Amino acid sequence: MDATRSGTRRMLRRLVMGLAAFCTLTTAQDSYDAVYNDIGSLPCVRLLNATGAIGCQSLNAASGVLYRTDTLADIQHFASDHDLKNKYTVVMPYWLLTSSNVETLRSTDKLSAIIAVVNGTDAAHTVAARPATINSPDSKCPNCEFGLYANTPNQYQWNPTGTDLLSQQFDFPIYALNTMDDRNIMSYNAVIQAVNINRFKGYSSYPLKSLQFHSFMWAAQDTGTCLRKGWCTPVGGASVWSTPSLNISSSDNKPIVVISAAMDSRSLFHDLTLGVESSITGMVTVLAVAEALSRSSIPLDTMQKHILYTLFTAEAWGFSGSQRFVQDISSPVNCIKPPASGSGCTYPFFSDLDFQHINPANIDIILEAGQVGGITSPAGGSPTLYAHIDNLQPTASAALLTQIVQVGSGALGNTTTPPATNAAVPVQAANGDGTQRGLPPSSAMSFLKARATIPTVVLTDYQKQMSSFTSQDLDDTWDPVNTVNAIQQAASVISKTAWMQAQGVSDATLMTPAQQQAIGSIQVNVQLVQDLLLCLTRNYSCPLIDGYLNVTASPSPPTRLPHYAGTLYSQSQPFSIFAWNFLANVTSVKGVTQNATGVPPPQVTGCSSRSETVQCTSDQFCVGDQCIQTMTRYHDAFGVGLGMAEDNSYFIKDASKPTWTESTWDPVGLRLFDVTSPGSQGGELAAGIVLTIVSIVLVVFGRRFLKKTLKVD
Ligand SMILES: *[C@@H]1O[C@H](CO)[C@@H](O)[C@H](O)[C@H]1NC(C)=O
Ligand SMILES: *[C@@H]1O[C@H](CO)[C@@H](O)[C@H](O)[C@H]1NC(C)=O
Ligand SMILES: *[C@@H]1O[C@H](CO)[C@@H](O)[C@H](O)[C@H]1NC(C)=O
Ligand SMILES: *[C@@H]1O[C@H](CO)[C@@H](O)[C@H](O)[C@H]1NC(C)=O
Ligand SMILES: *[C@@H]1O[C@H](CO)[C@@H](O)[C@H](O)[C@H]1NC(C)=O
Ligand SMILES: *[C@@H]1O[C@H](CO)[C@@H](O)[C@H](O)[C@H]1NC(C)=O
Ligand SMILES: *[C@@H]1O[C@H](CO)[C@@H](O)[C@H](O)[C@H]1NC(C)=O
Ligand SMILES: *[C@@H]1O[C@H](CO)[C@@H](O)[C@H](O)[C@H]1NC(C)=O
Repeated sequence: MDATRSGTRRMLRRLVMGLAAFCTLTTAQDSYDAVYNDIGSLPCVRLLNATGAIGCQSLNAASGVLYRTDTLADIQHFASDHDLKNKYTVVMPYWLLTSSNVETLRSTDKLSAIIAVVNGTDAAHTVAARPATINSPDSKCPNCEFGLYANTPNQYQWNPTGTDLLSQQFDFPIYALNTMDDRNIMSYNAVIQAVNINRFKGYSSYPLKSLQFHSFMWAAQDTGTCLRKGWCTPVGGASVWSTPSLNISSSDNKPIVVISAAMDSRSLFHDLTLGVESSITGMVTVLAVAEALSRSSIPLDTMQKHILYTLFTAEAWGFSGSQRFVQDISSPVNCIKPPASGSGCTYPFFSDLDFQHINPANIDIILEAGQVGGITSPAGGSPTLYAHIDNLQPTASAALLTQIVQVGSGALGNTTTPPATNAAVPVQAANGDGTQRGLPPSSAMSFLKARATIPTVVLTDYQKQMSSFTSQDLDDTWDPVNTVNAIQQAASVISKTAWMQAQGVSDATLMTPAQQQAIGSIQVNVQLVQDLLLCLTRNYSCPLIDGYLNVTASPSPPTRLPHYAGTLYSQSQPFSIFAWNFLANVTSVKGVTQNATGVPPPQVTGCSSRSETVQCTSDQFCVGDQCIQTMTRYHDAFGVGLGMAEDNSYFIKDASKPTWTESTWDPVGLRLFDVTSPGSQGGELAAGIVLTIVSIVLVVFGRRFLKKTLKVD
């Protein structure tokens, strides 16, 4: 046990170090401001799998005269205008960045780069302010090639608006402009001002403003090639699992109720990825469920079944987090090289081994929160939640489906009626229209691939079609009424269903009077839902997160942080760190507050604020400045098609499974300069550099270096 605990701590330390490094980088970077006109730049980068590459790459420094297109007609005009004799950097609104428009531009031979204007989350960019029609850049069935129905003919296409832009390969730079913070507003202003000058001059009267890019990606071809050369790193991060049952063991024969969601999302520009509807709404739901259940008047660890929360990362990349978790809990660990000190295993590498307490055969039901933001509902309308079940083994989940719809209807008597604010969010069976579509893309599929008969319900706000914001850079905001109501209802339904299930109650009408009384203690905290939405999107340095991680004490407190999974062991995992702390706190509180005499044990506080004098015992963790005991752990997440060799290098183990890696890349730079004549295309030849813009992207820039410093063992 001891060894395992210190391993988890080492993992935590590594993650916290990552966060610290993130903050240090930010500070170091601030000193650049005096020297350069330092602005943010948000690149599209190169990713690779076993058979190819996606995203952007330019082998040479590209440069082009800035050209503005605001409409489709502008793009067509650009393509057909034979007076345009330069190479151009085309500036366009994000929603014009479609496969066909990019193809139109590329085929002109006049294109050197694209800048897409994606405006950030602020008061002016509410749901209502978004363009009326929008398409998801993901595929028509995201990750379905790795899902439960991969081998089923005619599997249902959940994302019909998908343009598949994300899986295309571009051999020129694409950058985003976003007004999300001061640095990026400077960048936005500089580029927009320059392109407007060019437009004013009709793109013909020199000097014209030109932009040069450096965005060299090291990796070429595919994952196998780049891993051999050491030019890429697996896409991945740290999933988090947690249970109020400190004593959970693989041999206790106690069924497990799994409550799950994804933590990460993807989009073209990783630094912009938020995925509010795509994944944050599900994550918030699970955190709100854990908080609501922690207030159960019947202690959770005394129930007939265990409750297990799982928050998976790298799910947007072939369900990497959930597939690896299921794979690891399903196979015995043969630790060939135990660590010299501490816990986990050096080879095969595991940062923690406590997942062995979870017996996959004991998994009894799965409740998953998918997209539940209610953002797609018609303007003015209120959302509906749909409960989806598998259509290959429909009888396995039939009873659970009935139960969740029953709970959602508020028909459990007055103690379980949802508060009036969300009474209007109905819960319906997704197959209520007689069509069996099966499960939408979800982490639950990874469990069902291992054992198809686990009763499973995935709750979403759509019946037939995922949000068109799926995997969008514009998926950065929510509806202040509908989204909060929908999440509250989803969390309420999941927590009450899980609570009844954990007590072995499958029909609400069979609850004992004591149970009917006790279920009233499970109420979702609406304020918490609102706080979580803000903290996970706009401002990481919010009071809720600050209570755990003291983020505002950092020299430059982080605000909007991306929800792209990142690269394995090389990047800070701020949302995993927060989820770990939050779940550790809410799963530990109940059940240890008093002993047999009814006297609460002394609470040891100060382990963080006075760490020199206050130290937790070896079976405890310091969470929110308090020493607690918890069964909350990180779990490494990366494609199950990849393996890690004894020397810590990676290799392709199974090319038919997810093998996503991200290319290593050099610091990204942009330079704005004047072009005096059509002859002077090369950036270096250009006379009169008026403005040098050097951009170093936080974290991303540090990837190569952090990798070296943070890689353990
Ligand atoms: C982006 O934001 C700026 C400032 O809020 C605004 O002036 C501009 O019109 C926006 N651009 C787009 C394409 O939405
Ligand atoms: C690699 O990615 C491309 C683009 O998404 C896809 O078409 C291809 O099937 C993937 N290959 C594998 C082995 O997953
Ligand atoms: C957990 O295990 C400890 C030590 O074995 C025991 O004292 C405690 O009662 C157990 N708790 C539960 C809820 O089973
Ligand atoms: C719930 O119902 C019981 C009996 O039907 C009643 O005594 C109680 O007052 C009700 N509680 C509320 C909050 O309406
Ligand atoms: C983030 O929240 C903190 C604490 O509430 C506040 O001081 C700070 O100004 C906020 N930052 C932004 C960018 O909203
Ligand atoms: C209960 O906790 C109190 C405070 O820590 C302690 O003094 C007391 O001995 C404990 N009683 C039992 C039965 O463990
Ligand atoms: C937060 O950080 C500040 C400055 O480093 C420190 O004084 C304070 O004690 C910290 N608080 C906690 C709860 O760790
Ligand atoms: C931990 O949970 C308790 C009970 O839910 C709450 O009162 C406390 O504020 C939480 N700790 C932090 C640091 O948020």
